[in-house]
Amino acid sequence: MKSNIIGYGSFFHKTDLKKLPAVSNSFLNGHQLFYAGRYAMKYVFDKLIQNHEIVHIWLPQYYCPFVKEWLETAYSNLKYYDIDPFDPYAQIDYSTFSTKDIVLANNYWGLKKNTIPTRARPLIVEDHSHGWLSPGCIESEADLCIASLRKTVPLPLGGIAWKPLKSSLQLSLPQLKSLPNAHEMEVAWKLVDTAMALKANCTTEKDKTQFLEDYGKGEQLLRTTQEIVPLNPDHEKVMAQALCKDYNAYKLKNWDTMQTLLKGNDAFKVLPKAQGTPFGLLLAFKKEDDLKRLKQHLISKTIYPAELWPKNNIHHDYKFLLNIHIDFRYGKADIAYIASAINEWNN
Ligand SMILES: Cc1ncc(COP(=O)(O)O)c(C=O)c1O
Repeated sequence: MKSNIIGYGSFFHKTDLKKLPAVSNSFLNGHQLFYAGRYAMKYVFDKLIQNHEIVHIWLPQYYCPFVKEWLETAYSNLKYYDIDPFDPYAQIDYSTFSTKDIVLANNYWGLKKNTIPTRARPLIVEDHSHGWLSPGCIESEADLCIASLRKTVPLPLGGIAWKPLKSSLQLSLPQLKSLPNAHEMEVAWKLVDTAMALKANCTTEKDKTQFLEDYGKGEQLLRTTQEIVPLNPDHEKVMAQALCKDYNAYKLKNWDTMQTLLKGNDAFKVLPKAQGTPFGLLLAFKKEDDLKRLKQHLISKTIYPAELWPKNNIHHDYKFLLNIHIDFRYGKADIAYIASAINEWNN
């Protein structure tokens, strides 16, 4: 899919998904779709608050700064706990929380499996935004789970809340009431959908400026909208059809190819596949300056990686992550190009 104008990475262009094989959705014991992961999360927290006495909601310290900010405007009882985001085997010590708390466990980069204690424990919600359909997601035993879909699935917007098959929580996920009028999320969907279509056929810098602008406007609407709205039926249909496809087979194949090509570098460590499905090629850094310099080098080669996430302050040696996209958009020649760009970076 080599194209010098759109380059590699960043958000998905519009894609025909018919060629992607389907995977089973039997791990979903009831689910609801939303316009974004944050709405799925708020819906789940609100349902738990309505049905249980809740004192605090705990989020991991190392987490998406925009989502933290968004949730902080919605809840006054948020707290943060520490966990090493770059150790796929690090487990949360649930004994430090009250049974009246909600703990959000993040499936960091699709690599983790969260162990749920059998003794008295808080309510546990897992976030599989970076590990949609990874083993940790499919085998989850949490009370409830959520994911932002648009990070894995080529959709303009998307989020899901579900009860895992192995959950013993006595709570169903009721449907949202339909609204009489069109709402802002329909505008946001349209903006990002237009951006994805333009990106798919982009041949000029002018088109590129336009699709980036449309995408940015759609993203901005998510940041300023707190209301959880039901999906437009057309959007719901598109989302449902795209939900359970084997996106991860491509990542795993590309990840293996990448390992055969990549040289070691003192500036970063490559996070292992461990027991999961890596969200991308995950490079963890001790020094932010090293990350910034490699990122700039890659951008000069039209490779646009994601920083996950700046502005987090954690007490671990590795503190910064660069994700390089290796999803279904890319094949062997693309991976070879990306690997050689990383290898030639002289830190
Ligand atoms: C781990 C994680 N969870 C949830 C979200 C929220 O997803 P959305 O942007 O779809 O609201 C994000 C967003 O970046 C995220 O990184």
